Amino acid sequence: MKIGIICAMNEEFELIASNIQNQTLINRIHLRFIEGQLCNKNVVGVICGIGKVNASICTQILISEFKCTHILNTGVAGGIKPGVKFKDIVLADDLIQHDVDVTKFGHKLGEIPYIGTQSFKCDETLLNIAKSACENMINEDPSFDVHVGRIVTGDQFIADNSVSDKLYKTFGALACEMESGSIAQACYLNEVPFLIIRAISDNGGDIARDEFYKFLRDAAENSYIILKSILSSLS
Ligand code: ADE
Repeated sequence: MKIGIICAMNEEFELIASNIQNQTLINRIHLRFIEGQLCNKNVVGVICGIGKVNASICTQILISEFKCTHILNTGVAGGIKPGVKFKDIVLADDLIQHDVDVTKFGHKLGEIPYIGTQSFKCDETLLNIAKSACENMINEDPSFDVHVGRIVTGDQFIADNSVSDKLYKTFGALACEMESGSIAQACYLNEVPFLIIRAISDNGGDIARDEFYKFLRDAAENSYIILKSILSSLS
């Protein structure tokens, strides 16, 4: 087992980077990969950058060049379902790219034509491990909740009450962000199991930008704690 760990931003990655043991640094295109061990598991950690193209290129390199057998993506997200609040964890059970629109040709909103699915499902085994890890964490710290459900991805930072509400109503999504749907697509095409873990930094509404800056570090810390717990539970 070799686990690729992807974050979009430095703030989401720095705790991971500083805890990887026996580090080897490898540069590929614009990306800096850190190979080593985290919680006694072989990992390759990387900051992919913001957005879907960065995230899918990075995922493909982890799979093709580093031979990662599993992909984990952690970081922050905007909570769009009412009740999904700052610091809560969302474990994705599936992902849709909300900005894909080929409805004029009869495809569902979010469906990438001819790929065989509208939504990309996370690996069930990894998801079950993550759920147990989260339950243990909540028992110790009941100040946040864990939700399991859909995350939607697009190349937009959502900071508008009406857009956030529309995403919730259209897709039934719990949260939105800018990478995981494309990581999921790359994993689906390569038949590599993946899991997406996001901590809520804002609510995707009119004041999302301010909330994001205020809560980014705390939310990123929460997703790192969950990541460690999941890695420790993997056999
Ligand atoms: N990541 C964190 N918050 C987000 C938001 N509101 N929109 C898109 N990506 C995000």
